[in-house]
Amino acid sequence: MSGGWENEPLLGPHVPDELGYAGPEHLDSDYVAAYNRKQKYDPSGDVEELRRRGLDGTSTLLDMGCGTGTFSLAVAPYCGRVISADVSPAMIGHLVAQVAERDLANIHVVRAGFLSYRHEGDPVDFVFCRNALHQLPDFWKTIALIRLAAIIRTGGLLWLRDLVYAFEPNEVDQVLKGWFAAAVDDPADGYTRDDLAIHVRTEFSTYGWLLEPMLAHAGFRVLDTEVDRRRTYARYACVKL
Ligand SMILES: C[S@@+](CC[C@H](N)C(=O)[O-])C[C@H]1O[C@@H](n2cnc3c(N)ncnc32)[C@H](O)[C@@H]1O
Repeated sequence: MSGGWENEPLLGPHVPDELGYAGPEHLDSDYVAAYNRKQKYDPSGDVEELRRRGLDGTSTLLDMGCGTGTFSLAVAPYCGRVISADVSPAMIGHLVAQVAERDLANIHVVRAGFLSYRHEGDPVDFVFCRNALHQLPDFWKTIALIRLAAIIRTGGLLWLRDLVYAFEPNEVDQVLKGWFAAAVDDPADGYTRDDLAIHVRTEFSTYGWLLEPMLAHAGFRVLDTEVDRRRTYARYACVKL
């Protein structure tokens, strides 16, 4: 643990309010109540992958941008301790209720984000981060990755999933056309063409060929990557050097 700026909440007039970038829908309790149905995320594959890569009952895992906590709840039985962090009070409220209902003692839920989370105790073994990093512009994304690197132990793993543009700028029309064509019609059941267009217009997904040097600059080595066939989602397994 560096004990330096990386582990202090960033303050000052230049620091954005993370809620301003969080996506207004993520702050809306009605949207949050319907979120799991819209997401249709099955965390079992990610849990299995992390167990295969060493996660066990002694491990501490930080789930950053945890949302409703689908992954946190699924991984908790296989972990020593899970820290679930998100900036949205609605998301955090939803997860706190789930944790209480299931009487899970090893999940610690905290309302904090990439720029404001303050880690206490030993460095964590794993950071899991799914579909949250794109909420920040690249300047802050790099700082967020450096802050995550500062709280992972050397040899620990960052498991990063996000909407990532795994294509060249001159392919944008073709790739987005294919992505939008695969969207669902019912917003309750998944992401519609409008949802995806809003994502492209207002959020900060990065080209893969920019994100990879950012990860390296933050102190990670990318071990392996998976890109979905539409080239708009990617998964990175990164070891903290
Ligand atoms: C698309 S959701 C993903 C939630 C969850 N990880 C999942 O896979 O279902 C994005 C989440 O990122 C959270 N978020 C947005 N900005 C954030 C920030 N700066 N720090 C931490 N979480 C943030 C939102 O509140 C929201 O819960």
